[in-house]
Amino acid sequence: MRKYTLIILALMSLSLAIAACSDSGSQKTGDSKLDVSKSDDSKQGASRQGASKQGASKLDSEFLTKHWLRPLPTQGKAPASYTEQEQSLFPKDCGACHVPQYQDWQGSHHSLAMGAGLMGQLLDFDPSDSASQQDCLHCHAPLAEQALALQEQLVEVSLGAFDIKNIGNESKGLHEYGMTCAACHMRGYNIYGPPRNTGLPPLDTNKVIPHNGFSEEADFESSKFCGACHQFEQDGFRINGKLVENTLAEWQSSRYATEGMTCQKCHMPERRHLWKGIHDVEMTRSGVTIEASNHLLSHDTLSVTLTLTNTNTGHNFPTYLTPKVYLQAYQIDRHGDIISGTFQQETIGWEVSSTLTEEYFDTRIAPDSSHSLHYRAPIDSLAVDLTLRVMVDPDNFYRGFYEAKLDGGYTNIGTEQIQQAHAASQKSFYPLFESIKQINR
Ligand code: HEC
Ligand code: HEC
Ligand code: HEC
Ligand code: HEC
Ligand code: HEC
Repeated sequence: MRKYTLIILALMSLSLAIAACSDSGSQKTGDSKLDVSKSDDSKQGASRQGASKQGASKLDSEFLTKHWLRPLPTQGKAPASYTEQEQSLFPKDCGACHVPQYQDWQGSHHSLAMGAGLMGQLLDFDPSDSASQQDCLHCHAPLAEQALALQEQLVEVSLGAFDIKNIGNESKGLHEYGMTCAACHMRGYNIYGPPRNTGLPPLDTNKVIPHNGFSEEADFESSKFCGACHQFEQDGFRINGKLVENTLAEWQSSRYATEGMTCQKCHMPERRHLWKGIHDVEMTRSGVTIEASNHLLSHDTLSVTLTLTNTNTGHNFPTYLTPKVYLQAYQIDRHGDIISGTFQQETIGWEVSSTLTEEYFDTRIAPDSSHSLHYRAPIDSLAVDLTLRVMVDPDNFYRGFYEAKLDGGYTNIGTEQIQQAHAASQKSFYPLFESIKQINR
C-alpha cells in the first residue's frame, strides 16, 4: 500500500541527495563575473571568504559551501557571555531585537516550510531513519537542532507520548518553524549577514553588539545563496531531461543576471523578509504583462487573443512544476452564467505524472517570451458578454498528490495533516486578470 508514497519520496530523495552531495563544477557558466561575491577587504569578515570565486558550481564560494553543508553540524557550545535570548534558535527571540525582519518573516512562506504538507509526510517516516528525514529537512528546516527536535517528536508520537493534535500549536518544536532566522544567519553561534546597510548610522564602537557582533558576507546578496535550495545540481533528478528545480540556472541564462537583478532584488526588496512569490497576487502581477486584443465578430464567429508575457519574472513563469496558470475565455448569458460549449482554455505550466516519471507538456514561459490563447468560437444566441480571465493555481501539483495519497490510503499517521494541506491547496487558487467585453451584434 505504501509503495506510491515511497516512489515519490524515493525520487525526491534521490534527486535531493544528489543535489546535496555533488559539488562538481560541471554547471553551465555565464554568471561568475556577475556574482556579488567580490568582497571588499576593508570590511569585517571579508577575510573569511575563500578564494574560489571562479568555478561555476551553484555554491562556488568557500563561504556558501560551508554555510550550506548537508547535514549542518550543531551550533556547539554557546559563548559564556551569551544571554539566554542570544543563545536561542527560536525566531521570536531574534525578533525581540529585529522586529521588522521578524514581522515580515512570519507572513512568509519560509516560515511555513514545515507546514501540514511536510509534517503529514514526515509523520509516516521511520523515526529512527534520520537520513531520510534529512532528505527533506536540508531545505525545509536545515539546522541540526531542528533535525533533532523532529526526531524526538516522531519517537514520542510512535510511543504514544505525543498527541499529534499538538503539532503546530503554541509550543511548537524548533523544526516546526521551518526556515528560521538562525537557519540562514547562524553557524556555531556566530551571526552572519550581508554587508551592513550603508543607510544606517555608523555603529557605536563603545557599545557591545549582541551575539558578539556579526560577520559581513557579500554572498548574502548573491543569487547563489538562494540556489542552495532553489536549484538542483546538474546531475540532480530530471523529468524528460529537465531538472525538476532549475531556478538559479534559468535566472543565470536570463537578462536579469546580466543586469545584476538578483533574486534578492525582486524577492527581498529593501532587504525585506517577505519572499513573495506565486502565492501572492500582486507579486505575480508584477512579473507579467497581460494583453487582450480587440474582439472581432465576423458573421457568426467571435475571435480574440489573450496573451501573457513574462516581462518581469527572473526565471520561467512559473519556475516549478507545482503551479498552473490558465488563460480562459468564454461567453456568458444575461444572468452572468457561462454558456456551455463556449469555454476555451490554455494551460501554462509543466504537467507531469504524479509519479514524476513522465512529462505531458511544458508550457512554462521563459523570460521575455509569451503564451497566447487564440479564442475562436461561434457566437452563442444567448451570449451578451465575452469574459477573458487568467487564473492562478499555485498548489496544483500538490493538490493532486495529496488527493492520490488520501484516496489510496497511502498515508497513515499523517492523514489529518495531509487533509489540512489539501484544504489549504484548494484555497490558494486566485484570479490574476479579468476583462469583460460586450458582444454587440
Ligand atoms: C539583544 C538583541 C539582539 C538579539 C536577541 C539578536 N540580535 Fe542580531 N543584532 C542586534 C544588533 C544591535 C545588531 C547590530 C545592528 C546594526 O548593525 O546596527 C545585530 C546584527 C544582526 C545581523 C547583521 C545585520 C547586517 O547588517 O548584516 C544579523 C543578520 C542578525 N543580527 C541576526 C540575528 C539573528 C538571526 C538572531 C537570532 C538568532 C539575532 N540577530 C538576535 C541585536 C540582536
Ligand atoms: C535552506 C533552504 C532555502 C533557502 C536557502 C532559500 N529558500 Fe526559498 N524556499 C525554501 C522552501 C523549502 C520553500 C517552500 C516553503 C513552503 O511553502 O513550504 C521556499 C519558498 C520560497 C518562496 C515562496 C514561493 C511561493 O510559493 O510563493 C520564494 C519566493 C523563495 N523561497 C525565495 C527565496 C530566495 C529569494 C532565497 C534567497 C535569498 C531563498 N528563497 C532561499 C527553501 C529555501
Ligand atoms: C532542494 C531543496 C528541497 C528539498 C530537499 C525538499 N524540498 Fe520540498 N520544497 C522545496 C521548495 C523550493 C518548495 C517551494 C516550491 C514549490 O512549491 O515547488 C518546496 C515545497 C514543498 C511542499 C509544498 C509546500 C508546503 O509546505 O506544503 C511540500 C509538501 C514539500 N516541499 C515536500 C517535501 C518533502 C516531503 C521532501 C523530502 C522528501 C522535500 N520537500 C524536500 C525545496 C525542497
Ligand atoms: C532564507 C534565508 C533567510 C532567513 C530565513 C532570514 N534571513 Fe535575514 N537575510 C537574508 C538575506 C539573504 C539577507 C540580505 C538581503 C539583501 O542583502 O538583499 C538578510 C538580511 C538580514 C538583516 C540585515 C537587514 C538590513 O536591513 O541590513 C537582518 C538584521 C536579518 N536578515 C535578520 C533576520 C531575522 C531576525 C530573521 C528571522 C525573523 C531572518 N533574518 C531570516 C536571509 C534570510
Ligand atoms: C525580476 C524579478 C525576479 C527575479 C530576479 C527572481 N524572481 Fe522569483 N519570482 C518573481 C515573480 C514575479 C514571481 C511570481 C510569478 C512566478 O511564480 O513565476 C516569482 C516566483 C518565484 C518562486 C515561486 C515558485 C514558482 O513556481 O514560480 C520562487 C521559489 C522564486 N521566484 C525564487 C526565485 C529565485 C531563487 C531567484 C533567483 C535565482 C528568483 N526567484 C529571481 C520575480 C523574480
